[in-house]
Amino acid sequence: MSDPVRFDRRGAVGVITLDNPPVNALSLPLRTGLRDALAAGLDDPEIEAFVIHSAGRMFSAGADIREFDTGVAGESPTLPELIAQIEDSPKPVVVALHGTAVGGGCELPLACHARVAVPGTRIGLPEVTLGIVPGAGGTQRLPRLIGVLPALEAIVSGKPMDAERAHELGLVDELVMDGQDLVEVAVEVAERLVESGALPKARDRDDLLAEAREQPELFEQFRAKIARRARGFEAPYACIECVEAAVQRPFDEGLAFERETFVRCRSSLQSKAQRHVFFAEREARRVRGVGPDTAKLTIQRAAVLGCGTMGGGIAMCFANAGIPVRVTESEQAALDRGMEKIRGNYAATVAKGRLSAEDMESRLALIEPTLDFDSVSDADIVIEAVFEDMALKKDIFTRLDAICRPDAIMATNTSSLDVDEIAAVTSRPEQVVGLHFFSPANVMRLLEIVRGERTSPEVLSSALDLSRRIGKVGVVVGVCDAFAANRMLYPYAQQAQFLIEEGALPEQIDRVIYEFGFPMGPFGLGDLAGLDVGWRVRQHREPTRPKHLRYSSIADRLYEMGRYGQKTGKGWFRYEEGSRAPIPDPEVEQLIVRTSEELGIERRDISDEEILERCLFALVNEGARVLDEGISERASDLDLIWIYGYGFPRYRGGPMFYADSVGVDHVYATMQRFHEVHGDWLEPAPLLERLAREGGTFADWTPS
Ligand code: 3HC
Ligand code: NAI
Repeated sequence: MSDPVRFDRRGAVGVITLDNPPVNALSLPLRTGLRDALAAGLDDPEIEAFVIHSAGRMFSAGADIREFDTGVAGESPTLPELIAQIEDSPKPVVVALHGTAVGGGCELPLACHARVAVPGTRIGLPEVTLGIVPGAGGTQRLPRLIGVLPALEAIVSGKPMDAERAHELGLVDELVMDGQDLVEVAVEVAERLVESGALPKARDRDDLLAEAREQPELFEQFRAKIARRARGFEAPYACIECVEAAVQRPFDEGLAFERETFVRCRSSLQSKAQRHVFFAEREARRVRGVGPDTAKLTIQRAAVLGCGTMGGGIAMCFANAGIPVRVTESEQAALDRGMEKIRGNYAATVAKGRLSAEDMESRLALIEPTLDFDSVSDADIVIEAVFEDMALKKDIFTRLDAICRPDAIMATNTSSLDVDEIAAVTSRPEQVVGLHFFSPANVMRLLEIVRGERTSPEVLSSALDLSRRIGKVGVVVGVCDAFAANRMLYPYAQQAQFLIEEGALPEQIDRVIYEFGFPMGPFGLGDLAGLDVGWRVRQHREPTRPKHLRYSSIADRLYEMGRYGQKTGKGWFRYEEGSRAPIPDPEVEQLIVRTSEELGIERRDISDEEILERCLFALVNEGARVLDEGISERASDLDLIWIYGYGFPRYRGGPMFYADSVGVDHVYATMQRFHEVHGDWLEPAPLLERLAREGGTFADWTPS
């Protein structure tokens, strides 16, 4: 490995280059090298100032997150020690930023005496997304430099800002102009500081904090503002407390408070869960048979077949990413309806102030509606999103096979049909893949990439690449009934329905699931999606439904009563005109009680704990089968599926991480107990049993 820190001279300025690929994480060797380089420069009478910059594609992604669990993060020089050394340097230190400067990679610059950046550099403190607070002075120095409210926004959202905005706010002192060299500009700034004798430090600033002291209500208001978004998360509130400490306490006390809070958060289960999700997202890109050298097709033109609920949303995903997309329909009226829906969706975003009218028009201009099926022949990828009907899909793929370019990717958005059977009608099954979007497709971040038996590594690699470009989290799964996501959903929803037959009510179940951290419970979700949709799916699946996937008849009865959910103002709950708030309905309760009687079930009080365990452990159990059957390569992929597909609380790390955290043996023992009482559909999966017996975890499980 090459040296992570280099030292060169430019006149009287010592230029320190950080070089720790791939992201210049501030790991121990780098920290040690930087400490030594600074110390050597301080001892050298010919050096009057320093510039710190980085090689590679970014300044730094911050602390080395992998060191958190090994204890190396605490080894001297720690990041706070190094940062203090920089701030206290009697010779000015100027930092030169490019690419990305986040976390500790932003906190280190905050302690320098001046900051220079290339326009477009992403600068910020994303620690909150890892369940921690910035732990190297970020919460103390940032508000001093840019003001309390902008600092709260940046730290609590974790979203980086670009260098232009950082310059406006006073975080960046100088932007590099076109044609200028970053390091040269930084050297000039360092020379100017030497000449002026100035040594500006963020810690010495108080003007912007003084303004905030005049508005003590600011913090309560901020807490109220984030309450919905941050429900259940600990770190956002810990971040606010740290910024509050910056305003109320002397700098060193604030710094100590921040450090204490950081250390506490770092060892919390929430942070472990969120770090797990961070690495899970990166791990999901490693797919059997696909390597860094696997060729991929860069998608420049797309086509979507069918402009219904899914097709329209998928077309928007491409347009949002700047990729031109053709959408075809079978008839003009359907095409007009679909395009109207797309326009309406964009208009709603504009009305909420989240998109400019100009951007809406430029996105719409990228979507070309057409009835000419053959016009999709020049697309790099075609995604079929027509009705869920095997004969229709086979017909479409036969036609695609005749007109698409040989290297084009032919994808289906089917939610339950056999991708291999669809691929088999083409002369190039290796080009066929399932791209299973979740509804609403333009919003939900999960993209289940269904690998057919013959799907080529190049197609998978291209699909993974595409998922990132369109802002999705792509997770590769194999072919099976309902694929991984919906397959795990069934037992969860099934248990919820059985629980109401046994004595619970929809409002109790939804409350328990909501309090666990999901955005809504299974019944509220059913009402949102439409009970008619679920009914149609059940009709379609009826002939092939495995016996263990029996469902309660109550859902069918609601459908027969015309209770389709929010769209009809009545479903599992009742809804007031114009409101989405579910209200328990006595009519539904009567139906439930009657159904229990008809089934000969004596209703009983059901505890919240039983509700949670029946619903969640059933889905974990199905996840274990999905792994065992090789449908998914690793448990963390299933965690991503549930976080991004169904809103499983990120701070619990996903269902399989959750199972590990409560103990696989506990999950197994509970399932065994449920199995004895309730029968087949709660039979523990063989993998669950094996892991429990061997003291294993889902995290450590690898396919044999
Ligand atoms: N520590 C350790 N490894 C890291 C890392 C970090 N801070 N940031 C990225 N990596 C690793 C990734 O795991 C990945 O490894 P892999 O190739 O083995 O899978 C590799 O670096 C490349 O990362 P990405 O694929 O994510 O690269 P991108 O170019 O897509 O994204 C990035 C770059 C936006 C910087 C993104 O990596 C990122 O968001 N990183 C984390 C940033 C962060 O949260 N920093 C805060 C760290 S905590 C901290 O600083 C504590 C301090 O306050 C005390
Ligand atoms: P939809 O009924 O809203 O849309 C289907 C569209 O396809 C209709 O507009 C129809 O006119 C059009 N169409 C039919 N035949 C066509 C043809 N020969 N050429 C071009 N267009 C044609 O259905 P939806 O919900 O959008 O589902 C589409 C696919 O996506 C299905 O395979 C479904 O299983 C899958 N899916 C649906 C999800 C959902 O939540 N609705 C979620 C994930 C996948």
